[in-house]
Amino acid sequence: MGKPRVIVTGGSGKAGQWILKDFVEHGYEVINLDMKLPEEPICRTIITDLNDLGQVHNALAPYSQGNRQEVAGIVHFAAIPQAYTHTNDVCFRNNVMSTYNILEAAANFGIQKVVIASSESSYGICFASEFFEPKYLPIDEEHPQLPEDSYGLSKVVNEVTAQAYHRRTGMQAVSFRLGNILVPESYAQLKANFDNTEARLRILWSYIDARDVASACRKAIEAEGLGAEALIIAADDSSSNRQTKELVEQYLPGVKDIRMPLEGRVSLISNAKAKKLLGWEPHYKVMEQE
Ligand SMILES: NC(=O)c1ccc[n+]([C@@H]2O[C@H](COP(=O)([O-])OP(=O)(O)OC[C@H]3O[C@@H](n4cnc5c(N)ncnc54)[C@H](O)[C@@H]3O)[C@@H](O)[C@H]2O)c1
Repeated sequence: MGKPRVIVTGGSGKAGQWILKDFVEHGYEVINLDMKLPEEPICRTIITDLNDLGQVHNALAPYSQGNRQEVAGIVHFAAIPQAYTHTNDVCFRNNVMSTYNILEAAANFGIQKVVIASSESSYGICFASEFFEPKYLPIDEEHPQLPEDSYGLSKVVNEVTAQAYHRRTGMQAVSFRLGNILVPESYAQLKANFDNTEARLRILWSYIDARDVASACRKAIEAEGLGAEALIIAADDSSSNRQTKELVEQYLPGVKDIRMPLEGRVSLISNAKAKKLLGWEPHYKVMEQE
């Protein structure tokens, strides 16, 4: 038997390069679909515009010749990764159509497992024109998603699209609501700005190391029988140097429904469901990074 094969989209981007590396290091054959080449060649990249279903089909066709076992799964991370860098319509169209096309092609080729990158921004606080507080803390997967921006909206739509494809084919369709993704070289700057606590208020000081994102992707492709699930992928701790209780008292005084003890620097977005369903643990902590 050959190596298990996984398709990664957006593998040339910030998080994607760590995902490619992790799968390669764990014995997978990896194919990256992206509009651009990664900085270092980690695996085969096929330059593909995922907005074009023909290109997506054509890229996957050699690996999907009527044999369901040929692709273990697709990890779809390609996207415009934030609001307001592009016009609203461009961000929405790119993120929604690329995800639709990946799920459509997975369905057509009988691929059974897809992971898609959603975001903590889907809760709406990050890019809202007027700041609003969460309904309760910690935020979990049941908390309402209330985006007004086209990026957050695209992520909500993508999660719903994934649910529809699960209904249509039974595929395992997991949406990762990712905290702010940090790569090893981002820690120095983050720590240099620890005094500016307010800068990370709108992401509730959440973060996740790209290496922990990568291991979560692999766990989700290796998991069986998950159905359509949204999972928060965040570190156990916050990306602030201050105590979480103090942060809530100062910046989120209106939140009265607090559902856990705010001990130490505990994260305000909960990764409990991902830990339970994937058997995943984040390992990289901001305070231990250079
Ligand atoms: N960076 C974060 O903090 C963060 C937080 C939450 C969620 N996310 C999500 O994680 C994913 C990865 O984010 P990132 O920071 O690595 O972004 P990135 O911009 O570094 O990488 C995204 C990659 O997707 C590719 N891409 C975009 N549209 C494409 C298309 N139509 N066809 C082919 N390739 C396309 C780009 O070329 C790029 O290489 C995104 O889905 C993003 O929304 C990121």
